[in-house]
Amino acid sequence: MLWYTWGLLALSFGVVAENGLNGWLRYAPLPDELRQHASSLPSRAVIVALNETETSPVYVAGKELQAGLKGVLGYTLSLSHNLNLSASTNSSAIILVGTLAAYNLSVKHNVSTLAADGFWLNVKGGQVTILGQNERGALYGAFEYLSMIAQGDFSDVDLVSSPSAPIRWVNEWDNLDGTIERGYAGASIFFRNGAVVEDLTRAAQYARLLASIRINGIVLNNVNANATLLTAENMDGLGRIADAMRPYGVQVGISLNFASPQTLGGLATFDPLDPSVVGWWTDKTAQLYQRIPDFAGYLVKANSEGQPGPLTYNRTLADGANLFARAVLPHGGVVMFRAFVYNNHLDPSDWKADRANAAVDFFQHLDGHFLDNVVVQIKYGPIDFQVREPPSPLFAHLPHTNAAIELQISQEYLGQQSHLVYLAPLWKSILDFDLCVDGQPSLVRSILSGARFGRKLSGYAGVVNVGTNPNWLGSHMAMSNLFAFGHLAWDPTQNPQTLLETWTRLTFSLSPTVLSTVTSISMASWPAYENYTGNLGMQTLTDILYTHFGPNPASHDNNGWGQWTRADSTFIGMDRTVSNGTGFAGQYPPDIAAQFEAPATTPDELLLWFHHVPYTHRLRGDGKTVIQHLYDAHYAGAQTAQGFLAAWAALRDDDGGAAGAGAIDAERFDDVLFQLTYQAGHALVWRDAIAGFYHNLSWIADEHGRVGYHPHRIEAENMVLRGYVAVGVTPAVTASNGTAIVVADGGVRGEAVAVLDGVASGVYDIAIGYFDVFGGRAHYGAFINDEPLVEWIGDLEDRLGHVFSTKLDGHSATRVTVKGVGIERGDVLKVIGIADGGERAPLDYVAVLPAGVVD
Ligand code: GCU
Repeated sequence: MLWYTWGLLALSFGVVAENGLNGWLRYAPLPDELRQHASSLPSRAVIVALNETETSPVYVAGKELQAGLKGVLGYTLSLSHNLNLSASTNSSAIILVGTLAAYNLSVKHNVSTLAADGFWLNVKGGQVTILGQNERGALYGAFEYLSMIAQGDFSDVDLVSSPSAPIRWVNEWDNLDGTIERGYAGASIFFRNGAVVEDLTRAAQYARLLASIRINGIVLNNVNANATLLTAENMDGLGRIADAMRPYGVQVGISLNFASPQTLGGLATFDPLDPSVVGWWTDKTAQLYQRIPDFAGYLVKANSEGQPGPLTYNRTLADGANLFARAVLPHGGVVMFRAFVYNNHLDPSDWKADRANAAVDFFQHLDGHFLDNVVVQIKYGPIDFQVREPPSPLFAHLPHTNAAIELQISQEYLGQQSHLVYLAPLWKSILDFDLCVDGQPSLVRSILSGARFGRKLSGYAGVVNVGTNPNWLGSHMAMSNLFAFGHLAWDPTQNPQTLLETWTRLTFSLSPTVLSTVTSISMASWPAYENYTGNLGMQTLTDILYTHFGPNPASHDNNGWGQWTRADSTFIGMDRTVSNGTGFAGQYPPDIAAQFEAPATTPDELLLWFHHVPYTHRLRGDGKTVIQHLYDAHYAGAQTAQGFLAAWAALRDDDGGAAGAGAIDAERFDDVLFQLTYQAGHALVWRDAIAGFYHNLSWIADEHGRVGYHPHRIEAENMVLRGYVAVGVTPAVTASNGTAIVVADGGVRGEAVAVLDGVASGVYDIAIGYFDVFGGRAHYGAFINDEPLVEWIGDLEDRLGHVFSTKLDGHSATRVTVKGVGIERGDVLKVIGIADGGERAPLDYVAVLPAGVVD
């Protein structure tokens, strides 16, 4: 396809406020300069959608084309459902969408190779032909065409596109009560108060977004499933959801609770081989298919993290999966059986124990025992959606079993959508990994396409967790991850940056400045996040015992969860070697195993995943010691995050209005600005906590003298306090000097005062570190010589849209910054906090920062 050189054109944009509901399907009007290229598509064109049934994806495609061309070009085109009829209108241009069968094509040879869901898109001047292998494919082709014109691309194309794999599903972790496990964007759009919601408008809107990225299935409820989803009333509700999503070609499935025959059905057992249990599931499944004839199938989390499963009865995991497979088989359904099975009560004193070994230990010997409509769904790494993991070795061990990869769009361990982290490069590092099974090229993506082992059913599952927030994920920027997920599932050879650029043009603007800004900060975001949260393969050093958001490296060790770092005063890292460790490295095929067995051949980014080394061990890449690299990475990562904010802020118009020469509406510009401001502050919390933690543990100084040294900060506990008292913070490394102040019990108002007599007169940035906990919305005001400087509220739970913590810790630690403040030596700085409920207006420090210093 041909891209116009936007850089040479002076584009002008008309922008209206937007809330993100349409994601990348905005169909924003093209700038006049680009509209002129549309001359090949006359405004008298006729759209022909070869299906008259309103709930058919082909019909929907016609409507979508109509709406898209109206939005992008301002055309009002007529829509017909009969080719012959429309031909009689004598229009010079026809945009045709339908299935191959409906068009009755005298099959072109390349079109005949289309796989299920595939499409052929042919644009020749004013003639546009979009033919799907099935109805869904036709809709995908229509979205592809709309994506082109929304980007101002009117070139002729002849595109034949088929999916890499048949399973391209999203998983939602919604609970029946309306909450969402690891959801960061409000309540469920599907469930409330134990039932399916009445108004399914959002479900249909979500299906539209999913169809546009070629997702064909959705599992609606949490893998930690509630059996009452299978009551008659709730199955009726599921039927309504399926009806809402069917026009977009999205089939619904559900997660099951293995014990349902007992807990819901009242049977004495849930043994998968017991005839009464088999009968119960057969009946339930038939009842579901009565309501939803195209029901996609089941997702099963069994014998994991307290969930019931077949092991309870000494049956195998394959017995468990096949129970459901037999139930759905006559109806054409699929069972996604999760490989996330492990013991969460491991003995940390056992050097050889390793949670990473679990998937292969539990599943390898079952290869070939699963029925053909079972797909084993494997998390990308051996632990749990960490910022860096090697690919799960289980992908190499199931040549006779269908496999799917489980990716997480929901950023559970990656900043929970409050940090910008573009995940496609992470996913690509896994998909492009060559596992060298039997010494043959074995890219993870060719295992997932089914090609490597000759499997028919395989693919991709993405945990998304959209919520009622109008922008779906609680973050406009995070939507690039959903977009990239769908497109990579379709074609995993695609380039993450190219996908990002497409998403940016469709989501924000065709402005070259916006494009380069969003691209550069997004592409830098995963490396930055890795740098400030846990590098060298240590995993995300978050609080694994609480909310998986802020820093708490100590929480990783000395418990049964097995996300260990084995850090002590001299050494750090898991020994996963065969020679001396847990043996995990040996789960890979020999070429890869040999590479991971020795530090000298292990890539630096996975060094501490595989090896227990002294802090003074030198890295292959930059020759630094592990500890110095760790310090430097955390400082560099946090610095990069400051740059995201600066780059975005630079898009602001000179007149302070809408951003980027009017290229982005003010509403979304401000939302993103707010989140990047938050991230810049929280990245410093991460930096200080992690660097401080390992400094305290190793007692090895930072060569650059930064760690633990904050010459520009005034600790709140050292200010003159009225109504405030000092409290210790846990973990101590998440507060400056380990201590904060809170309004004393029984009081409402506190005051902290410092005389700036150590500060030379000049212009400074003032940063105030505080904690924003769930349980109240405290008010704060800062003053210089009693002149107001800044006022704010501890309301991140509203503004970032999810709850971090009820305590003072690494989740709630945050800060506000005021730039360019004129200070005279001896000025009096005062912060007043008004407590609200459980939020006792906690303060950590005030920093008076000379130009260019961020600390
Ligand atoms: C993670 C996550 C849980 C989830 C589990 C799973 O451990 O924290 O909330 O239930 O993965 O994928 O089953």
